[in-house]
Amino acid sequence: MRLLSFLFLLTVLSSCTQKEKTLTRILPEVQEVRHAPSYFNLEDVALYALPDAQSAAQLLALELQKLDYATDTILPFKDPIQSNSINLHIDSTLHQNKAYYELTVQRDFIFINAVSYQGLVHGIYSLLQLIPRSSGINDSKLACITVKDYPHFKWRGMLLDCCRHFMEVDFIKRYIDLLAYHKMNVLHWHLTEDQGWRIESKKYPKLTEIGAWRTQKDGSTYGGFYTHAQIKEVVAYAKQRGVAVVPEIELPGHSLAALAAYPELSCTGGPFEVTNDWGVFKDIYCAGNDSTFAFLEQVLDEVIDLFPSEYIHIGGDESPKYRWDNCPKCQKRMTDEGLANSHELQSYFIQRIENYVQSKGKKIIGWDEILEGGLAQNATVQSWRGFEGAAQAAKTGHDAIVSPTSHAYFDYGLEAIDLKKVYEFDPVPDGLTPQEAHYIIGGECNMWTERAPQSTIDSKVFPRLLALSEILWTYPKERDYEAFYQKVQNHYKRLEQLGVDYGLETVPVQYTTRYQNQQFKTTLIPGAKELSLHYSVNGSEPLVYDSAFTLSGSNSIQAWATKNQKPYGTAIEVDLYQHKGLDASITDLNEYANAYTGGGDRAVVDGIRGSVNFRDGSWQGYSGKDFYATLGFESPQTIERLVLSFFQYNLSWIFIPPKITIYTSMDGESYYNRGELLTAVSPKKEGQFFEEFEMNFPKVEARYVKIKAQNFGKCPPWHPAAGAPAWLFIDELRLY
Ligand code: ACM
Ligand code: ZN
Repeated sequence: MRLLSFLFLLTVLSSCTQKEKTLTRILPEVQEVRHAPSYFNLEDVALYALPDAQSAAQLLALELQKLDYATDTILPFKDPIQSNSINLHIDSTLHQNKAYYELTVQRDFIFINAVSYQGLVHGIYSLLQLIPRSSGINDSKLACITVKDYPHFKWRGMLLDCCRHFMEVDFIKRYIDLLAYHKMNVLHWHLTEDQGWRIESKKYPKLTEIGAWRTQKDGSTYGGFYTHAQIKEVVAYAKQRGVAVVPEIELPGHSLAALAAYPELSCTGGPFEVTNDWGVFKDIYCAGNDSTFAFLEQVLDEVIDLFPSEYIHIGGDESPKYRWDNCPKCQKRMTDEGLANSHELQSYFIQRIENYVQSKGKKIIGWDEILEGGLAQNATVQSWRGFEGAAQAAKTGHDAIVSPTSHAYFDYGLEAIDLKKVYEFDPVPDGLTPQEAHYIIGGECNMWTERAPQSTIDSKVFPRLLALSEILWTYPKERDYEAFYQKVQNHYKRLEQLGVDYGLETVPVQYTTRYQNQQFKTTLIPGAKELSLHYSVNGSEPLVYDSAFTLSGSNSIQAWATKNQKPYGTAIEVDLYQHKGLDASITDLNEYANAYTGGGDRAVVDGIRGSVNFRDGSWQGYSGKDFYATLGFESPQTIERLVLSFFQYNLSWIFIPPKITIYTSMDGESYYNRGELLTAVSPKKEGQFFEEFEMNFPKVEARYVKIKAQNFGKCPPWHPAAGAPAWLFIDELRLY
């Protein structure tokens, strides 16, 4: 065999060169690389491909054209290899990893040999990333290299939520290109939601006639959907680029748009509207109604026909049980099926759907809630509420995809998940045996779009996707963030070439403040070491920040960053309040939530009040609990006023407490009620906001001050998550 002798020659040649530890320009980084001291010239190349590689060859030709390297025809693969050629070859015996490829750039030719079509596509994108960035005579020289590469995880996905905000078909195709370019291989297409049904159904036309459109708060109509023809086009486009498109059809929850179209599928019969709010809604498919299952099976038939994917995602998350608990049909189903509670009813629902999907030769994926009440036999779990769902799935022999809110929610701000945080992501939960770890098939980033119309997606996904792709593909044992960071700096030119409107890597500036000797000492922390920081106090002339500064009294600080003398992100504003509580000890504090500590026990008396973002790290949160705390002073203090703030965002179950009470004591035993305030803010008041409350009372001497704020209780019956425990969010409790 000439080819064998050629391959032998390659091995000899590459072993003559030094195996270098240097990183390549390829992102995600490759598993193995050797550099050689020569060049291949990209001008006037011919493209040769095996019949199985034709579609990949067309893709490569198209991409080369974009870089101004024309390759007119694709010729049948020839052995021996011709001069000035790029050759695409598939050899299924090359390696056991299904996506393995070898890319060889020699002086005379380029050769990509892969185990599969998929591997070949990965090799093509590696080649494209090696091509010098701008075209032209001088930089058509491609340095010789040998790459042997394969992914660590087989599932490398991204969820696009096209329901909360609709995305154009061309935009979806562009994302398929961007995913493939970074060797991500799954587009998880979130197609049905409370806010819109986005996939045409021939059987149930009202799903798109009614379900695809919502009336916005300003009265305008918003929506859209994908026709069967468009979906086929997207699927084929993705297939050529080695990307699987996995549709998500949400059930039993997140289904208001479907219920608006077919209210008879609900527990109450409706009527419903496609919602224009964000949150979790209590109206879901009725589990006692056989027509619900008939409907879902027929919808799934159409979906299965459209998507060749091995998997169908059926959602399963955030499905409140309020309607089921109060529905005679659902109650009857539970009795008939011997189900102990509504969690088991959810499990019944999912298993029934799984059986159906499986009878069509497909597997289901569901969010980690599908573990509750018993997991369907062959289900894959997508773990989002942390890693626990993935661990539980793996321990019981189920595959798991890991996309936790801690590392993989790209709709979250950089204060929660920055580039470094994503790079620290390890999809394998702690405590698994190697055997169990085998069930962790990969990860995904989730691009939810409640607050992200199409035009903002790039800035949220990039550069964070670069970190995720390297974790899932390369899975570097040592996370050398500095080295990765430098690669990202070089990669920006490629993103620009691809038209990506990438965002920031990190929060530009953060701060810490310590109150000591009647002064606030403030330290500003740059998000990256290249950033320069600046600040101003109470609107003063801007100052260059070089070290911590102290201020007395109450002050407003503005701080911002620059990178290479250009503004980097927006300014932050910190309001510092000086008040008596800063000197107090804090005891008898009720237990706040781990996720919303506000910075710890002293969060409410640290001199800083939270912003209109309840996740900013300043607010202290209590789920289903009252707030109470006692402030203690070394010597008696004269007090006459309390000012404190509470947050409300009813769609996130956060309500202003109805009642605040203040007590004082001299001995810490006998307390006297100094005032009670009924806040009188309507729980129905929408949006995200906080309100400040002030209580004035006759001057009193006190060594102890006890403050109580009463939790709102349960989300009321009108609320989308009726019956769920309310949150209380408090910050700065100022005492004068
Ligand atoms: C989810 O974020 N509800 C899966
Ligand atoms: Zn019901």
